[in-house]
Formats: sequence, C-alpha cells, structure tokens
Amino acid sequence: MNKINFSLVTGAAGLLGFEHCETLLKLGYGLIMIDINKSLLDKKYKLLSKKYKKIPILKYYVDISSQVQLKKLVKKIKRKNIFIRTIINNACIDPKPKRNVKNFIKSWDRELNVGLKGAYLIIELFTKKMINMKDGCIINVASDLSVIAPNQNIYKGVYKNFTKPVTYSVIKHGIIGMTKYYAVKFAKFNITCNAISPVGVYNNQNKKFVKNLVNLIPMGRMATTKDINNTVGFLVDRNQKFITGQNIIIDGGRTIL
Ligand SMILES: NC(=O)c1ccc[n+]([C@@H]2O[C@H](COP(=O)([O-])OP(=O)(O)OC[C@H]3O[C@@H](n4cnc5c(N)ncnc54)[C@H](O)[C@@H]3O)[C@@H](O)[C@H]2O)c1
Repeated sequence: MNKINFSLVTGAAGLLGFEHCETLLKLGYGLIMIDINKSLLDKKYKLLSKKYKKIPILKYYVDISSQVQLKKLVKKIKRKNIFIRTIINNACIDPKPKRNVKNFIKSWDRELNVGLKGAYLIIELFTKKMINMKDGCIINVASDLSVIAPNQNIYKGVYKNFTKPVTYSVIKHGIIGMTKYYAVKFAKFNITCNAISPVGVYNNQNKKFVKNLVNLIPMGRMATTKDINNTVGFLVDRNQKFITGQNIIIDGGRTIL
C-alpha cells in the first residue's frame, strides 16, 4: 500500500458518514469505511471508488460494538502496513421517529454498545500507530443533544407517540466525556481529540417537524451537510494542532438560547 495517510470512518454508509468520507478523500486521505449495513456500504463504496479512482479506499462490514470483529479487523489492516492518521467515530443508533421502543433494556444495551463502547474500542484499537508516529486526529460525532436536553415538543403532532429516548442523551453527553478523556491522554503524543455537535441536518424530514425545529434556531434553519463538512475539514487539517478536547457545536445558535 502506498505512503499516504489514511482515515477511518465508522458508520461510513450513513448520511453524515458518507459526507465525512468525501471530505477526507478530497483532502487526499486514503479511506477505511466501516459499517454494519452491508448493502448500503457496498453502494456507497462503489460511488466513492468511481469518483476518487486514484485514492485507495477500503471497506469493511463490521459491527463496531464487537471487540472480536474489531480485533480481526486490526490484524487485517496491520498486514496492509498503512498509517491511520484520522479517526471519525460517527456510527450511532439514532432512533428514528417511526420506531416504537418495545424492549427498553435491550435498546439501552444495543444503543450504548454502539454509540459509546464502539467509539471507545475504535480509539483503543486503532491509535497505536498514531501514538508511535506522534501524529493523529480523532473526531467524535456528538449532537446538540450533547449539551441540551431534547425538546420533545418538536415531535408532537408530527410523529405519533414519539419521544427522543434517554439513550441518545446519555450517549451524546457521554461521548463528550470520552473526548476530553482522550484529548488529555493523547496530548503528549500530538494527537487531537475533539467532538462535533450538529443540530438536525436537512434530510427530507417532515415539513412540520422542520418548522418546529427551525423555530428554535436563531439562524432560522437546520444544518446542511456543508456546515458539517467544513468543520470536519478544519479539524483534520494538519495545521490544526492546538484545539483539543473541544465540542464544536454546529447549531446556528440553538444551544445558546
Ligand atoms: N443526521 C443528523 O441530523 C444528526 C444530527 C446530529 C448528530 N448526528 C450524529 O451524526 C452521526 C451520523 O448520523 P447519520 O444521520 O448519518 O445517521 P445514519 O443512521 O444515516 O448513519 C449511521 C450509520 O451507522 C451505521 N451503524 C449503526 N450501527 C453500527 C454498528 N454497530 N457498527 C457499524 N456501523 C453501524 C449504520 O448502518 C449507518 O450507516 C451519528 O452519531 C448521529 O448521532 C446526526
């Protein structure tokens, strides 16, 4: 494998994961895409491989909450002798408004295992070379709900009986703690660790829901993928060496009200 730096994105087949992948490819990073949704991952991989022919892209169908699967992946990647300089911990189960939670404890375990344990395992297993090279950048994808409680009124009259579950708040507040922990632990190795916290991103949502949410945002709109991409681009830039342990909130002012 050639000598370019690689990036690793979890949940790479999802809405924002795919965007992070493109941002990193545009910056010349080789790419490791990880997702549990095989067909979607194959589809997104095909799209990117066609568009960025000269840059190496690897895809792995892996459940990030499984230590066994991740350890196998570490071995596979080790054989390729590549340097992963950037990690984006993006995968998370964001319960969709149409879903009814039937078994709360099962949902609690599953969601926390992906959103927190998964992010923890990725950091622990894929940063050995960063530490040796004294160079690295970790971005944990949180949410505006990492600093505020969900306003359940925005779902009222839109999605029947839906309330944003407590798991999402626990995960997103927790990932900020994890971000600060690793920012301090890795500071001496010149590895930054930050979080990004977007407000809801436009994705063909129900019009009434959009209106309800936008009413809470001083800038009068939801986030766009471009807003997120610009922030990721800034954080992974090699010249960005001194911002660490921060939660960059991308919310048009929602959380300052
Ligand atoms: N979309 C938004 O409006 C928004 C706003 C704020 C924060 N976020 C955060 O951004 C991140 C991405 O959100 P999104 O909207 O792109 O979600 P998404 O559901 O489109 O993508 C998530 C991806 O993670 C994958 N995934 C789930 N469990 C996995 C596992 N165990 N192992 C590997 N992959 C797994 C899914 O298959 C999916 O492709 C999440 O952390 C989310 O909480 C999203």
